[in-house]
Amino acid sequence: QSTAVLIIGAGPAGLVLGNLLLAAGVDCTVVERQSRAHVEQRARAGFLAAHTVRVLTEHGLADGLHMYGQQHDICAFRTDSGEFQLAYGALGRGEVHTVYPQQDLVRDLVAEFLARGGDLRFDTAALRIDGLDGDSASVTVRTPDGSERLLHARYVAGCDGQHGISRSAVPAGAVRHYRRDHGVSWLALLAAAPQSMAAVAYAVHQDGFAGHMARSPEVTRYYLQCDAGTDPGSWTHDRIWAELHHRMRADRHGPLREGGILERRVVDMRSDVLDPIQYGRLFLVGDAAGLISPSAAKGANLAVMESEILARGLADRLGGGDGQLLARYSADCLPRIWRAQEFSHWMINLLHGPSGDDDEAVFLRALQRARLESLRDSRRHQDHFAENYVGI
Ligand code: APR
Repeated sequence: QSTAVLIIGAGPAGLVLGNLLLAAGVDCTVVERQSRAHVEQRARAGFLAAHTVRVLTEHGLADGLHMYGQQHDICAFRTDSGEFQLAYGALGRGEVHTVYPQQDLVRDLVAEFLARGGDLRFDTAALRIDGLDGDSASVTVRTPDGSERLLHARYVAGCDGQHGISRSAVPAGAVRHYRRDHGVSWLALLAAAPQSMAAVAYAVHQDGFAGHMARSPEVTRYYLQCDAGTDPGSWTHDRIWAELHHRMRADRHGPLREGGILERRVVDMRSDVLDPIQYGRLFLVGDAAGLISPSAAKGANLAVMESEILARGLADRLGGGDGQLLARYSADCLPRIWRAQEFSHWMINLLHGPSGDDDEAVFLRALQRARLESLRDSRRHQDHFAENYVGI
């Protein structure tokens, strides 16, 4: 069996790419190792940047998010010296986020892809990629009945995340791997409760960072900084809410609306970037191309940006173009990826101070305070923040 573009993985990256390729008349097949129910229920990100919304709208993929998504344009920072809010929709480029849970977006993208006649195979895992240097690539997949099958493609889009097989199909030495462990972990929580305030709230606290982010009218995302290697199960319902109230300083700013904890997961703040994000006939997209810490909610937005650029390059090449656009995929994406990495890294330093009383920790915490005060007091800092916070 043969297709022009074989897409491995049906997360946001693979599904946006697939839909854009179909819209451009490019034949493609998506293989996803999980079931449809699994990918449609997986709660992850939820803050869509203005660029993401534009791309999805342009391609008729945004009906759900326009109907049910909430515009979001305020964030609040809480510190020992009080709270300040930034109405970022009136700063920078005047762009806002649309809050739409990722699993809802995935559901829309799957439905649209199938409605447009797309070939999407769930419960089908890619096992091996061959022929990346040759005239055509081939991917061995395990079909739902357990047998193996060979799929041929002119190009392969690796949209299978950080631990997928696409990354490992790139020979050692062919790409440079930049990576950083930020040394910070978050307990990521989903609470069955409406949001407690209109803003995204970032609480900087000596006992660790805490965050509040809207998801839907019934569900709110919270974060609590925790030790690396923490067992999420060791955080009971009562301990979670006590610590959230404490770090969010609910006694000063008002109580949080509590609810059952639907999900608790430890996320280590790690980043990596591959350069280039292409090898032969293989193009890496989304988490497969690079991982970004969730501090600035950039992951899904970068995936959409990369999918858009790659879809254009592939459509041009497969439509008889000279391939120059496709050859520039990596060079076009990497500066944007690095800007997002830089901002996420800056956010990590803004939100987390080192603990302890040694000279270095005390000094770095004083810098952190100064950084927050610049953001509170300087319109220029606020514009810069807003532009990078919502921008890609
Ligand atoms: N064969 C087929 N599918 C695979 C394989 C494989 N060998 N390995 C992984 N997959 C699938 C996973 O099951 C998953 O559905 O690839 C998909 C990758 O999806 P995501 O992990 O969501 O990655 P991506 O689409 O790059 O996500 C973009 O959205 O929320 C964020 O954290 C997410 O930052 C990421 C962004």
